[in-house]
Amino acid sequence: MTLGEVRAAYIAFFKERGHTVLPSAPIIPEGDATTLFTSSGMQPLVPYLMGKEHPEGVRLVNAQTCFRAGDVEEVGDNRHTTFFEMLGNWSLGDYFKHEQLPWVYEFLTKELGLPKDQLHFSCFAGHDTLGIGKDTEAADIWRSLGVSDDHIHFYDAKKNWWSRAGTPEEMPAGEIGGTDSEIFFDFGTPHDPAFGPTCHPNCDCGRFIEIGNSVFIQYIKNADGSFGELPKKNVDFGGGLERMVAATRGDVDMFRIDVFDAPRALLEARSGVAYGADANTTRVFRIILDHIRSATFMIAAGVVPGNREQGYVLRRLIRRAIREADTLGIKDAVLADAAASFTEVYGDAYPFVHAAAGKIAEELTKEEQKFRKTLVQGLKELEKMGDAIDAFTLLTTYGFPIELTEEIARERGIMLSMDAVRAQIEAHKAGSRAGAEQKFAGGLADHSEQTVAYHTAHHLLLKALQLVLGSEVHQRGSNITAERLRIDFSYGAKVTPEQLAEVERIVNEKIDEGLPVVRTVLPRAEAEQLGAEHEFGATYPDTVSVYSVGELGSAFSLEFCGGPHVENTRVLGEGGKRFKILKEEASSAGVRRIKAVLQ
Ligand code: SER
Repeated sequence: MTLGEVRAAYIAFFKERGHTVLPSAPIIPEGDATTLFTSSGMQPLVPYLMGKEHPEGVRLVNAQTCFRAGDVEEVGDNRHTTFFEMLGNWSLGDYFKHEQLPWVYEFLTKELGLPKDQLHFSCFAGHDTLGIGKDTEAADIWRSLGVSDDHIHFYDAKKNWWSRAGTPEEMPAGEIGGTDSEIFFDFGTPHDPAFGPTCHPNCDCGRFIEIGNSVFIQYIKNADGSFGELPKKNVDFGGGLERMVAATRGDVDMFRIDVFDAPRALLEARSGVAYGADANTTRVFRIILDHIRSATFMIAAGVVPGNREQGYVLRRLIRRAIREADTLGIKDAVLADAAASFTEVYGDAYPFVHAAAGKIAEELTKEEQKFRKTLVQGLKELEKMGDAIDAFTLLTTYGFPIELTEEIARERGIMLSMDAVRAQIEAHKAGSRAGAEQKFAGGLADHSEQTVAYHTAHHLLLKALQLVLGSEVHQRGSNITAERLRIDFSYGAKVTPEQLAEVERIVNEKIDEGLPVVRTVLPRAEAEQLGAEHEFGATYPDTVSVYSVGELGSAFSLEFCGGPHVENTRVLGEGGKRFKILKEEASSAGVRRIKAVLQ
C-alpha cells in the first residue's frame, strides 16, 4: 500500500468507531516555548490527557507530523527517520484496553492485511518499586484474539513504560505516563548476532520493527517522586505510518516506500549510483532523503536556516545532506529539486507543504549555495596548505568541517590524526575558559566541573522561576558547590508542587535543547538596557560581563555574571542527569530558598 492509502484507511477506521478527526498540529509546537519540535501525537494533547475537557470529545484520531532530533544519529539504517507521521487514536477517559487492543488488531490484520504470524506483542512485566504489577490483562486480550503465547513478550519499564521523558525514574515531577503494549512486525530477515545471541522483538538487528504502541496513560509523577493516578485512565496509541506501509509491502527498507521513490530516483540520476549498490552508499542515500524531507516540512512550518533553536537544527540537516550528497559525487545543487518531489507527494494530505513549495525551494537553494561556497573556499585553503594540512585552522577560520578535511587528506594519502585535532579544539576551548576564570574568580565554592555545571543550572533556574512565578522574582543570594546549588529569591508565597514541577520541566527542557552559553563584555548601561538580571544591592563596574544562555539578543536567560559556565547546557544532562529540586522553603520575609541538584 502507499503512505496515503494507509493513512486514509486508518483515519476512516477510527472515524467509524466514533472518533473525531483532528488535523495534524504544527511540527513546531504552538504557544510552547519550552520544546523545539512536536515529537509524538500525544504532545499537543497533554493538557487533555491530564484531565482538561477536549472540545472535540473523548475519542480522537489523527495523523501527526513529528520530528525527533534525538534520532538523527540513527538515520542511515533501514528504519530510522527524523521526520515521520504518527497515526494516533486517543481515549480521554473513555474506552480502555478491552476496546482499543482488539481495534488496532483488527485494523492491522483486516484493513492492512498484515499476516498474523508476523505480528508480535509486548506487555509490561511489572515494577516492584512502583507497585505496578505484570500486565496480564493486555496479554489476555491479545490471547483472546488468537495470538499465541510465543508471540506475547514481557519487558520491564525500560521497554514497556512510556512517557515523553522515558522510564519512571527519568520522568520529572508533573510528567504523565504509563505502561504500554507494543506491536512489532517480523520482517523475517536473518538475525544479526552482533546485536546479541538470540533475536526478540526489542532486538535492534532490524528484523522486528515496532509499528504501534498503545500507552495506558494513567499516572502522573508527584514532586516527591511517587506516582499518583490521573483523574481519568486514557489510551494513547501511536503507530509509525511509514513503518506500517513498509509492513504492508513486506520490505523492511523504509526508504523504498512510495514517498521516497521520486527523490531517490533523482539522487540516482544525479550521482550515477544505484540505491542499494553497497552498504555505505545506501546509508548515504537514506541520510540525504531523510534530511531533505525533514527540511521540507520544517521550512513549510515557517523555520528558516539559522544559528539558534529550530533554525540551527534545520541548518545542520541541510548541511549534512549536502556533505553526504557530495560524497555520492553530486557536486551541483540538488536539495531544492529533491524537496519538490516531497511537496508534490505530500500535497494532498498537507496542503500547507504544497503551498510553501516556492519558499522551500528558495531557502534550500540559498543555504546550499552558501554552504557549497564554504566547501569550495575550504578546499582551496586546503590545497594551499600542501602536505601540512591544518584542520584546526580550516575549521575555526573557514568553517570547513573536520570530517571533510580528514576525507580529502585521505584521498591524498595523508593520514591526519583526528584525535590530535580534536584535542587541539578542546584545548582551545579550555583556554578561553581558563582566561575567563582568571578574570572573574568570585562567587562559586570552586571551579570544578560540577560546580561550574551547577552555576549554569542556577541561571536556568532563575529564569524558569521568573517564567512560572512572574517577573517580580529576582535573585537575593546564591551558594553553589560541587554537590548542589542554592538560590534565594524574592517571592511572597510558598511555591506549589505544581509550580516546582513546571520549573524543573523548563530547566530540563533547556538542558535537552543544548543551548550555547555565551559570554559578552559590554558597557553596563547597554547590559541594563538588554534587561540582564543582576543581584539586588550588588554594584558593578562601567564595563560588565554578561552570560546569555542562547545567543545574545535571543537568549533564554541573560545575567550580569563573571562566570565560569559550561559551554553548552547539554553538559548538564551528561550521563543521563536531570535537574531536580530537593527543597523549597522560606529564607526570610518575602524571600524563598530552593536547593536543587543534577542527578
Ligand atoms: N506516545 C506514544 C509514543 O510516542 C504512543 O503514541 O510511542
